[in-house]
Amino acid sequence: MAALLSCQVRVLPLLLLLLLCYLGPSAAVLFSSLPKTIIVTASPSPGQVLYAGVDQMNVTWAINQSLPGATVSAYKKVKVSFCYAPASQADRGWRKTDDNLKKDKTCQFKITTQPYATAGSVAYTVERSIPTATFFVRAYVLDSEDAEVAYGQSTNAQKTTNLFDVVGITGRHSSLGIAAACFSAFSVVALAFFFVVEKRKAKK
Ligand SMILES: *[C@@H]1O[C@H](CO)[C@@H](O)[C@H](O)[C@H]1NC(C)=O
Ligand SMILES: *[C@@H]1O[C@H](CO)[C@@H](O)[C@H](O)[C@H]1NC(C)=O
Repeated sequence: MAALLSCQVRVLPLLLLLLLCYLGPSAAVLFSSLPKTIIVTASPSPGQVLYAGVDQMNVTWAINQSLPGATVSAYKKVKVSFCYAPASQADRGWRKTDDNLKKDKTCQFKITTQPYATAGSVAYTVERSIPTATFFVRAYVLDSEDAEVAYGQSTNAQKTTNLFDVVGITGRHSSLGIAAACFSAFSVVALAFFFVVEKRKAKK
């Protein structure tokens, strides 16, 4: 009995610690709770088509000066991302928007993270990993714990204006891809052929 008690005494703090770790940082940030204090501009004109791995764009952001009382003292970083427009999210669960930012899959492609300043900009070549889709740009302001505390985006709240398109690598080089596939199929056949020939030679 005494042994059991001492075991409990030793294990209990550990369990509490585990529970604390579990509950601690997971306070969910809801997108709908964030103030829109940042003005974000992306250089592509509405409907412009950019080619992944080739085209450049500029993104600028600035705090909206006409908003008094933004808690700027908590602002530590600005994280800028490519975000899927609603048209490119339809029927695609893996791009789904969720108000809980831990589960949100709207903005999967980071453009840059920089220390917070009242204004900033970045020149960005559309990365080769960006797929064919319609996008806008969103900036999150992060606090010292990397939690989102404010945002801004290059489109309106309904995500219908200033959208642009990206043509991804895979969409573009499909003929090259087919050629490569044929070539590798051919090499497998060739390998099998020579294998059989060698075996026959060996038998003789
Ligand atoms: C980005 O900004 C630089 C410097 O202002 C400019 O030279 C360049 O043309 C811009 N690029 C685009 C795609 O707007
Ligand atoms: C800046 O904030 C003001 C006050 O809320 C708002 O009316 C205005 O539209 C904002 N400016 C931009 C460019 O979002």
